[in-house]
Amino acid sequence: MELTDEQRQIMDGTSGPFLAKCMRWLVEWGDAMGAQRLVPVANTHALVTVPGNLVWGAGQKTIESAMELLRPACQHRVCCHSTTHITFAHEEQYDEIEMPQEQVAAQLEVMDMAHDAGFLMTYTCAPYLVGNVPLKGEICAWTESSAVVYANSILGARTTRHGTESAIAAALVGFVPEFGVLLDENRWATLQVDVTAQLHTPTDWGALGYFTGKVAGLEVPVFQGTPQPSQEDAKQLCAALATGGGVTMCHIAGVTPEAATLEQALDGKPPRRRVTFGESELRNAYSQLRTHTDDAIDTVILGCPHASLQEIAEIALYLKGKHLADGVRLWLCTAYATRSNAERLGYAKMIYDAGGYLFCDTCPTNSMRLKAERIVTAGFKQAHYARNMIEAEVIVDNVKGCLDAGLTGRWSDGR
Ligand code: F3S
Repeated sequence: MELTDEQRQIMDGTSGPFLAKCMRWLVEWGDAMGAQRLVPVANTHALVTVPGNLVWGAGQKTIESAMELLRPACQHRVCCHSTTHITFAHEEQYDEIEMPQEQVAAQLEVMDMAHDAGFLMTYTCAPYLVGNVPLKGEICAWTESSAVVYANSILGARTTRHGTESAIAAALVGFVPEFGVLLDENRWATLQVDVTAQLHTPTDWGALGYFTGKVAGLEVPVFQGTPQPSQEDAKQLCAALATGGGVTMCHIAGVTPEAATLEQALDGKPPRRRVTFGESELRNAYSQLRTHTDDAIDTVILGCPHASLQEIAEIALYLKGKHLADGVRLWLCTAYATRSNAERLGYAKMIYDAGGYLFCDTCPTNSMRLKAERIVTAGFKQAHYARNMIEAEVIVDNVKGCLDAGLTGRWSDGR
């Protein structure tokens, strides 16, 4: 890879050993991916935390190894707009989810250091809902696969899928290797998905994404025949695309900023493959992720990816004056910035009064503190991961179906 004098000097250690290491990570990654050069990055979204799922997967050793990365990283300043991905819990909720002291202590240390290093501690998987909204063409380095698809496909920004080290390195040295969807030639669609099913809810868009992710693998799909999506529809689509497969971006003809038409999305070429998403594919996408052996549920999880203020408002108004069934809990996941708005506007109280809970800055599959027997959720991504990470039975349904299950204690298929 060709490096500029500035990049070579950083790699040679003129800015200190940790930034030299960061530069080596980026160069080695770029070399492996066939990049020709490093390009300036304007926006990063990084995991700057000691995540619960790693700790509970591997024990104390993982807290130590996370701190070995985070302590030296936070001795430096970020070079650009840098927000943070989820943590394991909002600090007001540590006691409620019985977080062990050693993890709390490590996280409190990280929060102070990262704040001083210039990270904006958004703690969310949907940074575009709390102010990190890159413009078309902006080069980004984002972790969180659902947000990566959203940034590329809905906002027209450019980011490959980053891991913890590469996103932190990019935030500190200000460069990323140029490969994948950072290049025009890799952004064109090759898989055409003709959508004939009626998409009524954001979860239906999740079903479309989950189906397409499985078909696409690493390809870029273009959707033809969908209605105009809402922000919530697009959020579910993008999350499910990155869960069902390894999709980094998609096109929705007429919606994705750089492709106003199907022909433009395909770069004027015929698609390599073409599939149809009809009513039976829609039904199968739901049934594929339903592992329940009974309709009695004990847990409702909403807000995957993190809920917008609009979603919280709709849920609050639906629950107003009602109460969850005995023994059922509702966890609505969101960023604390969104929760603050919801509290100010009275929506949070309506949810609390109904017996629900706004779970901040994380989600159950990442905090790993949820014990449930049978979950109903509106997020295909949550349903996919909950099966393995929480070891609960799972039902995926739209938000109304989930709330009705929460209110009665039993799920019934309303489709
Ligand atoms: Fe966010 Fe957790 Fe879903 S991190 S995308 S709410 S699995």
